[in-house]
Amino acid sequence: MDLLREFAINQWNPSLDLSINQQLLEALEGGAVIVLPQLAFNLLPEEQRFLSENWSDKNSKNISLRPNGGLRGAIGTDDDLASMRAMIQRYANQSEQLISKLFPSYTPNLTVANTSFRPFEVEARVSSYRKDDTRLHADAFPSNPTQGTRLLRVFNNANPSGQARVWRVGEPFGQMAAKFLPKTKALMPMQAWLMKQLHITKRTRTEYDHRMLQLHDLVKGDIDYQKNAPQQWVNFMPGTTWIVYSDQVLHAAMSGQYMMEQTFSLPVSGLKRPETAPLKVLEAMLGRALI
Ligand code: SIN
Ligand code: FE
Repeated sequence: MDLLREFAINQWNPSLDLSINQQLLEALEGGAVIVLPQLAFNLLPEEQRFLSENWSDKNSKNISLRPNGGLRGAIGTDDDLASMRAMIQRYANQSEQLISKLFPSYTPNLTVANTSFRPFEVEARVSSYRKDDTRLHADAFPSNPTQGTRLLRVFNNANPSGQARVWRVGEPFGQMAAKFLPKTKALMPMQAWLMKQLHITKRTRTEYDHRMLQLHDLVKGDIDYQKNAPQQWVNFMPGTTWIVYSDQVLHAAMSGQYMMEQTFSLPVSGLKRPETAPLKVLEAMLGRALI
């Protein structure tokens, strides 16, 4: 098993042959990690200072930029924060350019979501195994139901001192789901309605979200699976960009510091092969619609 697909792309705005676009799309939707080892995110000399934990407000793991311009999780003077925002915004812009060049068929349906700068060294969250991203998982968030919409993420290791970001990448989504889906339960409609009314969820949790959350928790909670399931270790070296559907690719962040990340969302109807979407995989296994 090797779910990594490397491409020699070294610009954020590359001109690609159609055959490369096809290979990229096939690999991405097929559940691979697209690895671009020659695509660095260049910091300006005056931005190097942001590679420090001291800019974090320490309340959140990440410093994040909302599409509406709101910067969260950072502290500093107004000038510092404006410069940091500009750096993160540049990563957002370059990521958007990159996706539009690599996956042009997505452009009409793609929504730009949050950008994050992750200044802390990866650590296991012992407080809760559900929040522990050193355990393999496919992304699913309790307060943020996607209702089946895909989570596409562009990561970059911006470490200045040669330190890799180390991930484990697990088996294909369908193989994990075949093992764990039978252990999940259906959703009570009242429960979903109530969580929306109480603002526990930002939008209504669908049965899809409910099953995905249970898969997320069951997989993270299964020590034997974490240790023995098919998986590969990956070192993303500084200057590497990688792209994944994080709702599909099983991943765990083992170590590393200073990473950039841009999230996009895409409806299942925007995929070339909708049957590869977790929504369609789970629906096929259960034999009915989940949204
Ligand atoms: C995750 O998405 O689970 C964490 C990725 C990372 O921090 O490298
Ligand atoms: Fe994750």
